Amino acid sequence: MAARDKQHHSKNHIPRSPSSILFLSFLCIASFLTFCLLKPSLKTFPPPKNILLVAKRSSELCNYSDGLWIYDSVASARYSHTCREIFKGWNCMLSNKSNGVEITKWRWRPKQCDLLPFDPVRFLERHRDTSIGFVGDSLNRNMFVSLFCTLKQVSNDVKKWRPAKADRGFTFLQYNLTIAYHRTNLLARYNRWSASASGGLLESLGYKDGYRVDVDVPDSAWAEAPSFHNIIILNTGHWWWAPVKFDPVKSPMLFFKEGIPVLPPIYPDVGLDMVLKHMISFVESRMQPGGIKILRTQSPRHFEGGDWDKGGSCQHVEPLSAKRVEELFAVEHNGTNVEARLVNEHLHRAIAGSGFHILDITHMSEFRADAHPGKLGGKKHDDCLHWCLPGLTDTWNDLLVAVLDDIKASR
Ligand SMILES: *[C@@H]1O[C@H](CO)[C@@H](O)[C@H](O)[C@H]1NC(C)=O
Ligand SMILES: *[C@@H]1O[C@H](CO)[C@@H](O)[C@H](O)[C@H]1NC(C)=O
Ligand SMILES: *[C@@H]1O[C@H](CO)[C@@H](O)[C@H](O)[C@H]1NC(C)=O
Ligand SMILES: *[C@@H]1O[C@H](CO)[C@@H](O)[C@H](O)[C@H]1NC(C)=O
Repeated sequence: MAARDKQHHSKNHIPRSPSSILFLSFLCIASFLTFCLLKPSLKTFPPPKNILLVAKRSSELCNYSDGLWIYDSVASARYSHTCREIFKGWNCMLSNKSNGVEITKWRWRPKQCDLLPFDPVRFLERHRDTSIGFVGDSLNRNMFVSLFCTLKQVSNDVKKWRPAKADRGFTFLQYNLTIAYHRTNLLARYNRWSASASGGLLESLGYKDGYRVDVDVPDSAWAEAPSFHNIIILNTGHWWWAPVKFDPVKSPMLFFKEGIPVLPPIYPDVGLDMVLKHMISFVESRMQPGGIKILRTQSPRHFEGGDWDKGGSCQHVEPLSAKRVEELFAVEHNGTNVEARLVNEHLHRAIAGSGFHILDITHMSEFRADAHPGKLGGKKHDDCLHWCLPGLTDTWNDLLVAVLDDIKASR
């Protein structure tokens, strides 16, 4: 499989020598491949301003999720791995992961348009006097750190603070732009639950221990975030399929609504729907007029040869082929990492008819089995869940810029 992956991708590599550029140019003339027609803009980095305008117009019709990863041998990381916010376990360059540098040389290329490289100065200028809140699990923190390190490269005057109970946050003083991360696993509030000696509805059904999840109460870590931030980026998903904590038998999720148990008891996937419905209307009711609400789709995991606690690992050093992606993630294959697309079905249903926009990072990320920390850090289990930084979530932020531009253009 590995050999086939290599072959597949070598076709898409950006030519490394002048003679091969010439050769590929001839190939382009002789073919009608969109990829070739769009290729010239890849040669300059960052792109000149006029390309920016052309790409913007085409982006209105663009499906950013439909594309491929292109190798660019001259690309370099957009920020230094010495950025202090990078959690050590995600710092693949510092830890000498064999492909730690290579990870940053792949660029996502949507089929119908271009996804522009992040321009931090433009971002800071466009979001003057703005506050952006990332709300969700550690994968949203991973994305938040990427954005912070990218902006810090060009604007050093930063004040650390934690607005509205954020876990971490910063203001870029020169632009009065605040970005913050609010840590919440389920979005809804949850606490340990134990059977009461005096009995109750759940006790009568035989429940002894578990977690009480209040489907209509936001976690206090972010309850103030919607009224504070101008732009909010929500995610949830990983913890709903986390049997270590929410063991279906020993410590199940017990859902409560308006303070009383939901009966008959519901499974986590039904609970997720209820939580999403309530949290989305909570955000809509609290957000200031003109506020931008974004729901990020599920980040895929890449455990192969077993799940995370069964010796699973991710040892790839190049993105997967499209065929392998389908083998790993197609819902009908019911593989180890099947939850990625399943969670998305819940998310899409939940925002239908709401004012939320979707940030769809799933499919582009499914290819990137090479971009996880893996063995790094010498932990007992490999990390095929989070992403190396610098790395993939940099591209999520490119997509965020495109989505924000589209939203602003449509207003
Ligand atoms: C966009 O592309 C993805 C990946 O190919 C596909 O799954 C999705 O259905 C497409 N979305 C639309 C709106 O066509
Ligand atoms: C990574 O490599 C550098 C240079 O060879 C070395 O100084 C450093 O100790 C290595 N770090 C780890 C975590 O192995
Ligand atoms: C700074 O930005 C915040 C929004 O994040 C805004 O409420 C505040 O008025 C701005 N401050 C100044 C001095 O413009
Ligand atoms: C998917 O696989 C898991 C075990 O890996 C199994 O418990 C579950 O029933 C399967 N689901 C379907 C729909 O086949």
